[in-house]
Amino acid sequence: MLLHPAGHTRSPAMHRAAYDALGIDAVYLAFDVPPERLEDAIRGARALGARQISVSLPHKEAVLPLLDAVDETARRIGAVNTIVRTGERLVGHNTDWLGAVQAIERERSLGGARAVVLGAGGAARGVVFGLLERGAHVTVLNRTADRAHALARALGAHGSGSLDEIGSIGFDVLVNTTSVGLRSDESPVPAAAIAAGALVMDAVYEPQRTRLLRDAQARGARTLGGKWMLVLQAAEQLRLWTGREAPLDVMAAAFDRASPYPP
Ligand SMILES: NC(=O)c1ccc[n+]([C@@H]2O[C@H](COP(=O)([O-])OP(=O)(O)OC[C@H]3O[C@@H](n4cnc5c(N)ncnc54)[C@H](OP(=O)(O)O)[C@@H]3O)[C@@H](O)[C@H]2O)c1
Repeated sequence: MLLHPAGHTRSPAMHRAAYDALGIDAVYLAFDVPPERLEDAIRGARALGARQISVSLPHKEAVLPLLDAVDETARRIGAVNTIVRTGERLVGHNTDWLGAVQAIERERSLGGARAVVLGAGGAARGVVFGLLERGAHVTVLNRTADRAHALARALGAHGSGSLDEIGSIGFDVLVNTTSVGLRSDESPVPAAAIAAGALVMDAVYEPQRTRLLRDAQARGARTLGGKWMLVLQAAEQLRLWTGREAPLDVMAAAFDRASPYPP
């Protein structure tokens, strides 16, 4: 795994637990790679014969031109979080979008749903792509409205605007992909904007019960933390790398054990 700064990533714990459960003889290591060393790191991974490489912040876009091929989905999203080595070739994929969509689909179907995505950064790109793939009607709202407009145009979302427009837009599904709430007790939107009956997912998973999710629950909405999005994207990585179905409960339990925040 290549990321910077290394911080407290849950990925090694989840993948190692899966390898143990499946009897796969492999190790999964996190390497702190600053942006100016990414090219060296990819060259090193090639030389060392690394078979499976995760790519995390801030490298998901910069890694594309360093690979031998990028699959169609990752190219459309514009970000790679998974590299698979086939022979001598390094091929880029994106599993973030599927993690987000599968997490939501554990709760409800997305076809025809009115979805609002908060944020226009890296996580938003995958989430918006996934919601559109599943046939949702998607509006992107962001602090910097121009970035929301640009993302909506690039991926074909139906609407875009600034965060304060949340009060005037009805939705069935709300997904927060801003970093608001990350290790803080803040929410990107006022509680009053959330209607009972909506499904609210927060991509933020530190803490697992963010202010947004507590507000949503108090308003009578259903809530979903970022844990399952992370576990399910890791499960898809494992499937791409090994062809095996991931032991989801084992990976989720490893996430909880590695997390400084209670479920
Ligand atoms: N659960 C998962 O699997 C998963 C996967 C990926 C990411 N995440 C989480 O998603 C979050 C975002 O990640 P990212 O990669 O998309 O980051 P990013 O590319 O840096 O984007 C950050 C987004 O947050 C917005 N933002 C930042 N500070 C804000 C503030 N004070 N008020 C309003 N908006 C603010 C930014 O708006 P501007 O454009 O206006 O700056 C931008 O839209 C992180 O917390 C990350 O941990 C979770």
